[in-house]
Amino acid sequence: MPKREKTRPLVLVSRPLALEKDDPLWKKLERLARVVVRPVGARQPLASHPELARAAAVVTMVDDRVDAALLAKAPFLRVVANHAVGTNNVDLVAARKRGIVVANTPDVLTNATAELTISLLLAAARRFEEGTRLLREDAFTGWHPRLLLGRELKGARLGIVGQGRIGRAVAAKARALGMKVAYSNRRSGVKLEKLLRDSDFVSLHCPLTAETRNLIGRRELALMKPGSFLINTARGEIVDEKALLTALGKNLRGAAIDVFHREPRLDARLARHPRVFVLPHLGSATIEARAGMARLAVGAVIEVLSGRIPANRVR
Ligand code: GLV
Repeated sequence: MPKREKTRPLVLVSRPLALEKDDPLWKKLERLARVVVRPVGARQPLASHPELARAAAVVTMVDDRVDAALLAKAPFLRVVANHAVGTNNVDLVAARKRGIVVANTPDVLTNATAELTISLLLAAARRFEEGTRLLREDAFTGWHPRLLLGRELKGARLGIVGQGRIGRAVAAKARALGMKVAYSNRRSGVKLEKLLRDSDFVSLHCPLTAETRNLIGRRELALMKPGSFLINTARGEIVDEKALLTALGKNLRGAAIDVFHREPRLDARLARHPRVFVLPHLGSATIEARAGMARLAVGAVIEVLSGRIPANRVR
């Protein structure tokens, strides 16, 4: 078994963070630990990184699978700081069994994700995908009064699945645009079936869990109003993608998604579909949110390495 670093603990950071090297927080981390940062585009998964064997802390990304097998390769690991609010990529039970602290990055990305959701609502309603294709394919032959007519958000019904921080932030912004908002969640609100039947737009804001995997499947999509839209900035696996493609040929008018199955590889049929507007998981991609996420993740590592429990610990 490799030796524990005698002097400073080792921190493995899965991708460069949005924190400058001369930022006092980063400098504090470097005083406390030897920091190894994997480059962007590293081909090997985090689980095969040789430094895992020495790491006291890892900062992980949404697409790193932090399962029992990875944890088994990291005998000295004390903290997993997941650079995301969702922790579906982390085996929390396996971490707890080993006494490893898991932290996430809540709150700081709520507004960014809600703003992106509103962008997707508008992109779907105003047919951005069809419009840009028309231009890129050199098929725009001239303006006319019936060209790519969309829908207005004002007065439309928005059904939000999940009533957490992001769902509530989306609701506030949507109300400001004149939308009528209803929620469905595990404990209260409208029943999912009713929400799907009644909404012009359905937006997903629940975490990915065993319960929500494929929550929006063939049956649920078939319940959606004729001419309605599905928006997903949560996790791809909440929606059955095959069923989504089928529904797009029927009652669903369009979909705007920031997340999909098997990221980063997008299903070719979704990529080609003119009524699917898709982004590469950009929900929290703002300077403000990413700076906040980096600070929370690095802060959690510093806390644990200093013998304290971080406030953003996941229970
Ligand atoms: C991003 O997807 C997150 O969970 O923060």
